[in-house]
Amino acid sequence: MGLISKRLVCAAAALSGASALNIDTQQQPLGGDGQARLVSDDASAIVKGKTVDSEKLQSLIKGDNLLARAEKLYEISKLGEDEYGHPTRVIGSAGHAGTLDYIYSSVMGLGDHYTVWNQSFPAVSGNVFESRLVLGDTVPSSASPMSLTPPTKDKEPVHGDLVLVANDGCDPSDYDAEKLGGNIAMVLRGKCSFGTKSDLAGKAGAVAAVVYNYEKDVVHGTLGTPTSDQIATFGLSGDEAEPFIKKLEEGKRVDAIAYIDSVVNVIDTTNILAQTAGGCDADNVVMLGGHSDSVPEGPGINDDGSGSISLLEVATQLTKFEVNNCVRFAWWAGEEEGLLGSDYYVSVLTPEENKKIRLFMDYDMMGSPNFAYQVYDARDDANPVGSQELRDLYIDWYEAHELNHTFIPFDGRSDYDGFIRNGIPGGGIATGAEGIKTEKEAAMFGGKAGDWYDPCYHQLCDDVGNVNVTAWVVNTRLIAHSVATYAISFEGFPERTDVVAESSYAEEVKYHGHKLVL
Ligand SMILES: *[C@@H]1O[C@H](CO)[C@@H](O)[C@H](O)[C@H]1NC(C)=O
Ligand SMILES: *[C@@H]1O[C@H](CO)[C@@H](O)[C@H](O)[C@H]1NC(C)=O
Ligand SMILES: *[C@@H]1O[C@H](CO)[C@@H](O)[C@H](O)[C@H]1NC(C)=O
Ligand SMILES: [Zn+2]
Repeated sequence: MGLISKRLVCAAAALSGASALNIDTQQQPLGGDGQARLVSDDASAIVKGKTVDSEKLQSLIKGDNLLARAEKLYEISKLGEDEYGHPTRVIGSAGHAGTLDYIYSSVMGLGDHYTVWNQSFPAVSGNVFESRLVLGDTVPSSASPMSLTPPTKDKEPVHGDLVLVANDGCDPSDYDAEKLGGNIAMVLRGKCSFGTKSDLAGKAGAVAAVVYNYEKDVVHGTLGTPTSDQIATFGLSGDEAEPFIKKLEEGKRVDAIAYIDSVVNVIDTTNILAQTAGGCDADNVVMLGGHSDSVPEGPGINDDGSGSISLLEVATQLTKFEVNNCVRFAWWAGEEEGLLGSDYYVSVLTPEENKKIRLFMDYDMMGSPNFAYQVYDARDDANPVGSQELRDLYIDWYEAHELNHTFIPFDGRSDYDGFIRNGIPGGGIATGAEGIKTEKEAAMFGGKAGDWYDPCYHQLCDDVGNVNVTAWVVNTRLIAHSVATYAISFEGFPERTDVVAESSYAEEVKYHGHKLVL
């Protein structure tokens, strides 16, 4: 496998970490009530040493177990209060460190069923403290600083003429250094990433950049991987940009002030991986993941405490069975900064290791309060072959349980992206983030039309009350089904094709993580 098991070496460390946080490393009972006992009863009915059975594994998934873990995770998120003033599990925070300890010690607590390892990697994380953009005598309300933007010089306002960049601003020749030097670049969105535009504007000597939308609405983007030439960069709605573009095109002068106070740091953070140990086929790996981190704004119990916990619970119940194909669980870090952990993981796989991963299943946001049962619309003609079969497994399960489902775009917003860009079939399910539930969906799933699927998405209120346990249990059972199905056999599932170079999938994808990159 090429990956080093550190399970034995660090058992002591994990246990001491657990006791310091007073974390219960035992999986049962969690609820401390009748429901939890019921779980143990079920468990004793399972004959040890038997190959996993989907129905039996599903039957061991209980809402009380999930909720007890959610409460634990919320307590852990409070470790972030000292630094952030509220609960959070953002990378670099004590809340995230506590989350990692919790996941690690929980899986270590499952004894020799799993080989557990950490994968540390450098993650770029940024924070914008204050920003302001003035165009002529207007303060556009849609101006929004890009994530991971550097500050303006000396974190002070800069002043200059607004200069229109030619074409799409994707070629150095679109940037007239004579005009842009010391001034503020106005660049149309599209064709290449925001990061590239900011970099090219910086190389031409601009002191700040504004990327305006070709659509009417606001652009909330990220610059992605920092470069040394990038400059302070805002997104602006097409609506608010229009009068200024007109003036500039008529040769009129527009003066502008830009101000961003921000930091961009590189910190070390950690993915945690656990693979079933003992006798399973490590050349045909069933892989699944959720993300261990939250945004800085809140505790992230639905996003993605829910998926992280579903994985922990499935990993826990899976110890009662044997598997044919090895199952590899991943808890990614840095998802909210742009899928950093999963990207890193895939980027350092050797071609041989890559080809052993038969598929990757993404489980991010499993219990949105105003949920829809969403299936990523992965297709074999656009994604690595096998992605569609996985999609159909989810559909079949919802249909067999007489539950409705909808399709959502498989558009790069979560940790599957690095996998499908590198030739590994992928897919997953979700329950909805900041999208608005339609009337039709309210008829299909209940809940409230016109509201977000998760009204607390990326906010402080994403706490234990922000999960619908019914949906969460349903989806965790489906996760159990996906794991059991492929842990038993990949018969009929397409063989792996070759590892592909990332670029062939990367072209038209606008998202990489929850922020637009292009
Ligand atoms: C892995 O990471 C966890 C969480 O940070 C930590 O408690 C544990 O000691 C680490 N283990 C190793 C082997 O580094
Ligand atoms: C599925 O959706 C239909 C409406 O399209 C609705 O009548 C039905 O009750 C829904 N089923 C469930 C289980 O919610
Ligand atoms: C969760 O969803 C189910 C099904 O729509 C609904 O009956 C229940 O009231 C919801 N629970 C909460 C706490 O909102
Ligand atoms: Zn998420």
